[in-house]
Amino acid sequence: MTLQFQPPPPDHVAPERMVEFDFFHIPPGVGDPAEIWHDLVRRGVPEIFYTPRNGGHWVFLDYADIVEAYRDYSIFSTYQTPVPPIEPFPVVQPQAVDPPAHNTFRRLLAPMFTPIAVRGMTDELRRRADQLIEPLAERGHCDFIGDFAERFPTGTFLYLFGLPESRLDEFLALANTFFRSTDPAARAGNITAIYAVLDQLFRDKQANPGDDIASAIVTARNEAGEPHDWTDVLNCGFLLFVAGLDTVTNTLAYIWRYLATTPAAQQHFRDQLDDPDAFLRAIEELMRINAVSNLFRRVTHDCEFRGVQLRRNDRVVLPNTVANRDPRVFADPQTIDLDRAVNVHVTFGVGPHRCVGSHLAKREVMVALQEWLRRIPPFELDPDQPAGSVFGGSVMGFTSLRLRWDRR
Ligand code: HEM
Repeated sequence: MTLQFQPPPPDHVAPERMVEFDFFHIPPGVGDPAEIWHDLVRRGVPEIFYTPRNGGHWVFLDYADIVEAYRDYSIFSTYQTPVPPIEPFPVVQPQAVDPPAHNTFRRLLAPMFTPIAVRGMTDELRRRADQLIEPLAERGHCDFIGDFAERFPTGTFLYLFGLPESRLDEFLALANTFFRSTDPAARAGNITAIYAVLDQLFRDKQANPGDDIASAIVTARNEAGEPHDWTDVLNCGFLLFVAGLDTVTNTLAYIWRYLATTPAAQQHFRDQLDDPDAFLRAIEELMRINAVSNLFRRVTHDCEFRGVQLRRNDRVVLPNTVANRDPRVFADPQTIDLDRAVNVHVTFGVGPHRCVGSHLAKREVMVALQEWLRRIPPFELDPDQPAGSVFGGSVMGFTSLRLRWDRR
């Protein structure tokens, strides 16, 4: 669609590639924020298009192009990418650093999140999930987001960073302002507050290291045998704080929303409780269909990509939800097939920045669902409670999800 009554497109953007699209705006009545992306595909907009909204940015819709943008950091950088632009933005470690410098913190984090390392966290994750679910079972209803989906990953962060559970409400409040506030003053104060908390935490761990990830980061040494730059340490702590909360919360929310409205799928998981392979395969499919993150890149130099002229500093948005339903890659992509055998989804990205926490995220979902199904009988959306609102942006999701079931 060519825009009228709007500033003209940047002169390197062909008019036929201009589409009016604001990925933060979810029109009234749309119950699933991901639908605004799938609607673009249904409308047949160009697979590479430019929108003037949110500071102006490209959107890629083809799986192959999205994967290429993830991989080719010589064109698509992760440095200073926010959409709409915020400059300067913290250079979070390692996500906002291109290879080869990216490797320093990537190599530091990767061993702490391997499948084996994550398996070792299972008992503690299970205990924490159980502690949250147990009191809900007797209640017969809950707001799944406030009562579980926010608390569980935030508690996991406390556990990873060697912090006491008594600080859960403090960290929930920090995370809530970070992810939901639209007030610029509150947001600025919140980032300052998060950095102050991390600064104190890392100083404490430096003085008294423990067997936790914060201690491992602050006591690590660079190739010269020196401690890492303090700003990088803080920026790494900041990334771990923000990367594993809203993503996990809303993935859980999407999955529970689907299960609440699909009794056969609930039963499928109940039937597989003692078959971890089948259980995980089904979770993998729910990860494909419920890809909550839209990632950003910045173009490093003027160039042509797939015949499209890109300009240095152009922003690009990569919607994983669209890639994951590309019919050129996935058979019958709109169908949720809990036994899908080949599943090359990009929910956790691909290439150098592929999610370091993916095994942890999947383990959190698996443990949460196992414990939930063991304690809660068949559940459904609560028709007596108002549906919460939905939001778009870099992570899509829901503000509340009211569920109910028969009390024990
Ligand atoms: C369902 C939950 C999650 C989703 C959907 C998700 C998604 C992603 C995606 C798409 C990326 C790639 C970023 C890019 O290419 O720019 C990423 C990177 C990252 N994620 Fe996750 N993530 C999840 C959970 C977690 C958790 C639990 C942690 C940590 C405890 C975590 C830590 C990270 C880190 C550190 C990176 C940066 C890796 C790098 O730059 O090398 N994520 N995540």
